[in-house]
Amino acid sequence: MRVARARYAGACYGVQRALDIAYATILDGCPAHTLGPLIHNPQVVKSLEDRGIAAAESLDGIQEGLVIVRSHGVVPQVKADACKRGLTLVDATCPHVARAQSAAASLASEGCQVVIVGEKGHPEIEGITAYAAACSHGRPVLVVGSASELPDDIEEPVGVVVQTTQSKENLDAVVAALEERGLRPIVKNTICFATRQRQESAAELAGQVDALVVIGGRNSSNTSRLFEICKARCARSFHIESPEEIDPAWFVGCGTVGVTAGASTPEEQIEVVVSFLESL
Ligand code: F3S
Repeated sequence: MRVARARYAGACYGVQRALDIAYATILDGCPAHTLGPLIHNPQVVKSLEDRGIAAAESLDGIQEGLVIVRSHGVVPQVKADACKRGLTLVDATCPHVARAQSAAASLASEGCQVVIVGEKGHPEIEGITAYAAACSHGRPVLVVGSASELPDDIEEPVGVVVQTTQSKENLDAVVAALEERGLRPIVKNTICFATRQRQESAAELAGQVDALVVIGGRNSSNTSRLFEICKARCARSFHIESPEEIDPAWFVGCGTVGVTAGASTPEEQIEVVVSFLESL
């Protein structure tokens, strides 16, 4: 059975950077915590814990040492609170997320009504919103999941930023809806294309193989979305977290099996699965 990997699969730049920062912290030997699970990957979170980096729900659970901020970023107040408590912050915020935070803050400080296109309640959106709110002089910062959620009372000047993992189509639809109202939004396209690259290459691969294995945490929304995309094109698609879950019977009669992985899946996990499939 041939094993074919998707062209883009696995840990994105921001996740790999956060992992590298965490592993470097382990080598330094300082007590350290991550604020929330570092990535949506139970195996990695467990392995970090085994090596001395536990995930804390909040700063209240951390008495000393280093606090690693994950790639989604945090609200600025958390950084200030960590300093007040004498904790050392190690900022693993993805640079693409940091760019969205500063774009939102700069639009707000220029006096714009800031509209953030993204998923309400997502930690990345909470961070971006807080950065904008800190500079908005009390003007509300809006978060909309789609154009239909835009409130009626938006006034010029309007600035738009977007969650890094949103689609360009959704951003364009929100901007078009604002323009239809006669507004001239200042748009900062802060989308990162890692997610789309993984989705497009998974879709392409799913059309070329007999079966497909999608690797990633079941709590990872980007992996679940990859799985949906694959399943829609290749009925024999399977979502796994580790190779022990693979049942060889899935591949009876298959000439080629594809492999892809979510943006929170490290390369080592992909390699283990590929080797296992090649051994079947
Ligand atoms: Fe960063 Fe994009 Fe990954 S924003 S965390 S490189 S999906």
